[in-house]
Amino acid sequence: MKGIILAAGKGTRLKPLTDLFPKCLLPIYDKPMIYYPLEKLVEAGINDILIITRPEEEDLFRKAVELKYKNINITYAPQYKQKGTADAINISESYAKNDNVALIFGDNIFDNSIKNAVNNFKEGAHLFLKSVQDPERYGIAEIDCEKIKSIEEKPKNPKTNLAVIGCYIYDKTVFDHVRKLKPSQRGELEITDVNNIYISNNNATYTILNNFWIDAGTFDALVTANLWTKNNRKN
Ligand code: DAU
Repeated sequence: MKGIILAAGKGTRLKPLTDLFPKCLLPIYDKPMIYYPLEKLVEAGINDILIITRPEEEDLFRKAVELKYKNINITYAPQYKQKGTADAINISESYAKNDNVALIFGDNIFDNSIKNAVNNFKEGAHLFLKSVQDPERYGIAEIDCEKIKSIEEKPKNPKTNLAVIGCYIYDKTVFDHVRKLKPSQRGELEITDVNNIYISNNNATYTILNNFWIDAGTFDALVTANLWTKNNRKN
C-alpha cells in the first residue's frame, strides 16, 4: 500500500499565520503538523508516501520532512489549483501505479493506529468514523448495523454525530470513481462523493475511533491539538 498526504490547503481559517507559513507546517506542540500523518502511515508499515503541496511550498515541506524522515521514500507532487479533496486522488494516480492507497489530510491529528485496518484491507474503501459535538462541520455518516448507508457533507440537519475523519483507505478502483465526479455546489471535487460511490456499490467498511481526533484547521482546534499532544505524549 502507498500513502498520500494532502497538504495543499490554503489554510484560510488560520490567517494571518498561513500567509507566512503553510498550515501543515504549523507547530503541534513540539513538531510540525505534517509529522503526525507521516507517523500514522509509517507506523502502519507504509514507507512509500506522496505529499501533495502547493507548488510554491514544496521546498519548505522538503526541508521540514527531511529533518526527521530520512529512511522512507517520500515523493512530492504539486496541486496547482485547489480543485477539492478528491483531486488528491487524480494527482496521485501515476504515483500509486495500481496499488491500494491510504490517504490522510495533513491537518488531521488522531490517536488511534490505522495499522490493523491497513493490514486487513483487501478491497473497496475503509473509512474511520468518530463521534463529534459539531457534526455540521464534517462529512457525516449514517450507519445501519455493519454498513454505512450514506455520507452527507456538512449537513444542516445531521442525521448522526458520526464524522468521517480525514483518513481513507482505497483500492485501485478509486481512480475510476474520481473520473466520474462532478464539482459540488462549492465547485470542488469532494472526497465524500468518492465515498458515496463505494457505499452505493456496497463496497465500504468502517472503524469507529474511540480516541482523540481533531481537524486542526481552526485556531481553537489548533490550541486543542497542541494541548492534547502535550498532555498525552506517549514517549
Ligand atoms: O477533516 C475531516 C473532513 O475533511 C471530512 O469530515 C469532510 O468530509 C471532508 O470534506 C473534509 O472537510 P474539510 O472542510 O475539513 O476539508 P478542507 O477543504 O478543509 O480540506 C481538507 C484538507 O485538504 C485541508 O488540510 C486542506 C487540504 N486541501 C483541500 C482542498 C479543497 C488540499 O490540499 N487541496 C484542496 O484542493
